[in-house]
Amino acid sequence: MVSVIFCGFGEKQDKRVFAKTGDVLLRVAHSNGITLASDCKDGMCGSCAVRIEEISNDEQLDSTLEDYSSKGQAVYMDDKELETLISMGAITKKEAEIAQQYNRPTPVRLACQCAIKNASILVKPYN
Ligand code: FES
Repeated sequence: MVSVIFCGFGEKQDKRVFAKTGDVLLRVAHSNGITLASDCKDGMCGSCAVRIEEISNDEQLDSTLEDYSSKGQAVYMDDKELETLISMGAITKKEAEIAQQYNRPTPVRLACQCAIKNASILVKPYN
């Protein structure tokens, strides 16, 4: 389990929750009462965009995982998500190229396309 901290969504929605690796961020948000727009749930509309920062792995609960210490893990982002983020002005083409080339996440992600990795994250509204 990893921590997902929602911050900036409002007094009653700012909270720390726990998620499993592979959970989709949008589902984690909705199941914990966080209001995130989700017009298409398919990476096309951009309504679920959020800012994500990876935070320390120190508090991870499962220290037996091989990549326990791998802060900054590889993250595959598909073309659809990157194209939507570019079209809405959330990232530049250069940032998208870097994301693809080095399997790095962009600072803005689409919650409906964002699978939780083995690292705790801080999630803030895009706007
Ligand atoms: S809900 Fe449309 S891009 Fe995520």
